[in-house]
Amino acid sequence: MDRINILGSGGKTKTMKMSRALILTVVAVIGLAVMGSGLFAADVPDVIQMKDPIYSAHTRGIVSFTHTKHYADYGISCGECHHDDKGQPLADLKTGDTTHRCSECHSKPGDVPRTALKDLAEDAKTKLTLEYHAGAMHLNCIGCHKDWNKEHGKRGPEGAPISCNDCHPKE
Ligand code: HEC
Ligand code: HEC
Ligand code: HEC
Ligand code: HEC
Repeated sequence: MDRINILGSGGKTKTMKMSRALILTVVAVIGLAVMGSGLFAADVPDVIQMKDPIYSAHTRGIVSFTHTKHYADYGISCGECHHDDKGQPLADLKTGDTTHRCSECHSKPGDVPRTALKDLAEDAKTKLTLEYHAGAMHLNCIGCHKDWNKEHGKRGPEGAPISCNDCHPKE
């Protein structure tokens, strides 16, 4: 009986230790999963330094993107830039929510090589361009800026910037 008791209590302590270790492991795994999934913390800076970690080195000056200004002052909805894995706008996204890095899906660093676009139809060009991070960023940022300037009779840099050095500061 004594032996069984000792074993019993020993077993209990062990179970408790095990479950603590298990909880710690689960917490660690969830932490890693969140980091790995590219989910951002909900604490978003007003100006985002666009320096995506998929690049081993940037060849251009780092773009300071006025994130808050774009939706608060320029009145652009979240879903114009943030979308799901099918490219459908995240219409319900709101301040405080988390989201995914663009590079999670537009995952090749840099822009599409011009030679790769040769002889492709427009659709195929866009599709291939979107595989590249800088390709997708430029389509998003410069695409809207061009339209906006046209609509408002402005030109970069007085309007929304469309030339390289107006976004990428000279180093
Ligand atoms: C004009 C385009 C645009 C608009 C509008 C926009 N975003 Fe973003 N947002 C971005 C870009 C680009 C990033 C940077 C993502 C990256 O580097 O991969 C970003 C980053 C974020 C992040 C993560 C930031 C971090 O560093 O932790 C969150 C969260 C976010 N946006 C939420 C929102 C919400 C909510 C709205 C609407 C209220 C919104 N965004 C409107 C383009 C936009
Ligand atoms: C979860 C995956 C995913 C994330 C994250 C993502 N995209 Fe996309 N994106 C897609 C898909 C899928 C398409 C549609 C591609 C197609 O139609 O061939 C797309 C399309 C686009 C297009 C084409 C025009 C349009 O709006 O349909 C642009 C530009 C673009 N993404 C930029 C961005 C930017 C900028 C970010 C970050 C703020 C981002 N994407 C985040 C998957 C993603
Ligand atoms: C859907 C439209 C839209 C998209 C997408 C967009 N912008 Fe803009 N952007 C604007 C408008 C509108 C202005 C203000 C133009 C003005 O006031 O003359 C602006 C202004 C700017 C400016 C100059 C003023 C400032 O706030 O710093 C920069 C730099 C800029 N955008 C960078 C970016 C970058 C980088 C991206 C992509 C990550 C982006 N924008 C995506 C609409 C857009
Ligand atoms: C409206 C703003 C805007 C304009 C204009 C623009 N870019 Fe970019 N570019 C970006 C953003 C945002 C990124 C993503 C950087 C990141 O998140 O790391 C980028 C990424 C890049 C990259 C990959 C990162 C690097 O530094 O190697 C290259 C190369 C690049 N741009 C070249 C150009 C060239 C060349 C032009 C002019 C033809 C240009 N860009 C115009 C906003 C812009």
